[in-house]
Amino acid sequence: MKIAFAKPELPKSGTLAVAVMDDRKLGPSAAALDRKTKGAVARAIAASRFRGRPDDLLALLAPAGLEFDRLVLFGTGKPEKLNDLGLQSLGGRLIAHLNKAGADSAAIAIDALPGLTMTPAAAAAEIAYGARLRSYRFDKYRTKEKPDAKPTLKKLSLLCEESGKARSDFEPLEQISEGVFFARDLVSEPGNVIHPESLAREARRLTELGVKVEIMGEAALKKLGMNALLGVGQGSARESQVAVMTWNGAGDMKRNRPIAFVGKGVTFDSGGISIKPAAGMEEMKWDMAGSGAVIGAMRALAARDAKANVIGIVGLVENMPSGTAQRPGDVVQSMSGQTIEIINTDAEGRLVLADILWYCQDRFKPVGMIDLATLTGAIMISLGKEHAGLFSNNDDLSAAVAAAGKSVGETVWRMPMGDVYDKQINSDIADMKNTGSRYGGSITAAQFLQRFVNDVPWVHLDIAGMAWSDKDAPTIPKGATAFGVRLLDRLVSDRYEKK
Ligand code: BES
Ligand code: MN
Ligand code: ZN
Repeated sequence: MKIAFAKPELPKSGTLAVAVMDDRKLGPSAAALDRKTKGAVARAIAASRFRGRPDDLLALLAPAGLEFDRLVLFGTGKPEKLNDLGLQSLGGRLIAHLNKAGADSAAIAIDALPGLTMTPAAAAAEIAYGARLRSYRFDKYRTKEKPDAKPTLKKLSLLCEESGKARSDFEPLEQISEGVFFARDLVSEPGNVIHPESLAREARRLTELGVKVEIMGEAALKKLGMNALLGVGQGSARESQVAVMTWNGAGDMKRNRPIAFVGKGVTFDSGGISIKPAAGMEEMKWDMAGSGAVIGAMRALAARDAKANVIGIVGLVENMPSGTAQRPGDVVQSMSGQTIEIINTDAEGRLVLADILWYCQDRFKPVGMIDLATLTGAIMISLGKEHAGLFSNNDDLSAAVAAAGKSVGETVWRMPMGDVYDKQINSDIADMKNTGSRYGGSITAAQFLQRFVNDVPWVHLDIAGMAWSDKDAPTIPKGATAFGVRLLDRLVSDRYEKK
């Protein structure tokens, strides 16, 4: 779908969408069409349930005397209540409707609605962004989809007076959407296509955008002493990898220390010797969504040329059972020197993160570390699929991450931590064990990670409930959500970027 910005003009063909506010109050474009058609628009509304609420849509045939084919009324609710997220949702809902209805080209009239708290140009950019985010599809493996089931919209035009301004407002948003789409692609790919080496290759593609990318294989990881990470991958025929991405947008890294993003990248989690039940195991192809979000965020930051220093580190492994696989009862020594007794080989994400968190703080001395991981099923029991779990050693960074998430619609909820949980992972034969009791499983997982974090401000986001969605949302089609990409991008622009 091509997105264009143009001056207001009635289209000669295709669909035109115009705004109607709360309580059926026509926006300027809708009112003009109503006058041109001797009241046909208002009559059609009166004969329907359309109220002008934000999820109301009403499709009409283009009235006689007008050249375009169809008129769609979209509700905006009260314009004073519309923020950027609300506008993105309007755009997303509208194109979902147009794609279902069979529209081939469409124009949206962006009015200066009374009470709107931003310029029509800014509103146009947000609506376009929402439309773009919703337009994502992962259909490369569908060879027999019926034409009727495919989206139809080829071109979307946003009509507003300051169309040049709208286009330039849209540009950075479009670049963020590239990062979102990249992450969605990586997470959607099956485990036979995305494995540690191919995912590392995908990360390496960011060099085209000016990101420095280093990739370490098993020999290098062994030298560094990352035995916790290597133990997880040792049952797999695929070689484990760690990719380090550096975006140097704000000068000398020593003087202006970076913020670091760390991602769990288990390209398939069978559970290993503590193997998972068959039902639903296919979902574990998305156990690399944390690393997908980190890679997608690095892409967004590079594409929009963010003025900040940012490190992205992803630990890429495949967790498989085999004759060489790690056993329950094994003891491994992590890069930090601390030893870990493996109780359950399915609690593998924390083993991967333990080594890369340690490596990250040791090598880069970051101002903060944020890790993203599909770490525990237990977080879905706690928070459902509405919030990611946030765990932290620092109130200030926690608040900043939560605020960034709220601004972009990727919401997080802070969970407690403390010594009473921490002691549950003490081991009788090693420094710690990799699981606690059944209760509070997301918290003991976070306590485990914290044992590998020194005094650097750190936030852990458990995104197990957020990485994949079974139903469409206004700006997120069902499937891989890319949760975290927009949050991390916003955190950088609000907190770390030099303006
Ligand atoms: N990747 C899973 C967590 C997960 C489960 C994410 C279901 C999404 C949906 C993780 O590696 C895991 O297996 N965790 C175990 C930990 C347990 C063995 C302590 C879990 O949550 O059951
Ligand atoms: Mn697991
Ligand atoms: Zn896992």
